Amino acid sequence: MNVIVLLGPPGAGKGTVADALTKRGVHHISTGDMLRQEIREGTKLGLRSKDKLNHGLFADDTDVITMVTDYLMAQKLDDLVLFDGFPRTLVQAEKLAELTQTTHIHLTTVLRLKCPDQVLLGRLSGRRTCVSCGAVYHDLFSPPDVHGRCDHDGGALAQRVDDEPATVKRRLDVYNRLTRPLVDYYRETKMLHEIDASRSSEEVRSDVLLKVKEFLP
Ligand code: AP5
Repeated sequence: MNVIVLLGPPGAGKGTVADALTKRGVHHISTGDMLRQEIREGTKLGLRSKDKLNHGLFADDTDVITMVTDYLMAQKLDDLVLFDGFPRTLVQAEKLAELTQTTHIHLTTVLRLKCPDQVLLGRLSGRRTCVSCGAVYHDLFSPPDVHGRCDHDGGALAQRVDDEPATVKRRLDVYNRLTRPLVDYYRETKMLHEIDASRSSEEVRSDVLLKVKEFLP
């Protein structure tokens, strides 16, 4: 299994880039989506993580590592997989490094989406997500055809609980303290590619596709 890691602060466009790669046959794993599903299903892990996510804090490393490794062990090993939001701490990065030594998981590249805080705040305040299929819109940058309704299935569009302004500020702070150090960690491996994510979605997407084209199915 070849793995691409996508690093970036909240609102940098990781989910938007992931959509583009999914259309090219890449298997997308978002730990944020997985945790929200655990919360919806009311699992023990979901119940432990709910308050943390709603307040902009990270779920426990142990929980996230268990969730990801259980999921990976149930997959075919010949896929190209995009990790969106994992690893997010040094403990998680070290676990991934260990998995690359002990399993058929092979880390191919790390993409870092860079974006100034002011742009991130604007993106997150206007983000709307379909409550039934999870499609992501933005009030200004990518509005739906019909206000408040998903283009794909007509589902209602809602704001994520953690997109409330005070929570967004906390998420940015947590990102800077706990995830930012991974940039130096991966820079040393020479696998890191930095992408200016403040540009339009189309520009970011084509830059990303260029960086990963040798790995695409
Ligand atoms: P997660 O769901 O991963 O949230 P996040 O990292 O905070 O990122 P977002 O989903 O908010 O933003 P994004 O970068 O995907 O941007 P998007 O494409 O939507 O995680 C949620 C929570 O789960 C975390 O806070 C943490 O608590 C927990 N968690 C997850 N993984 C964990 C882990 N490994 N360990 C511990 N805890 C974990 O774009 C944002 C908006 O901007 C959209 O409206 C979009 O339409 C718009 N947009 C995107 N790109 C552009 C562009 N280029 N130009 C204009 N608009 C754009």
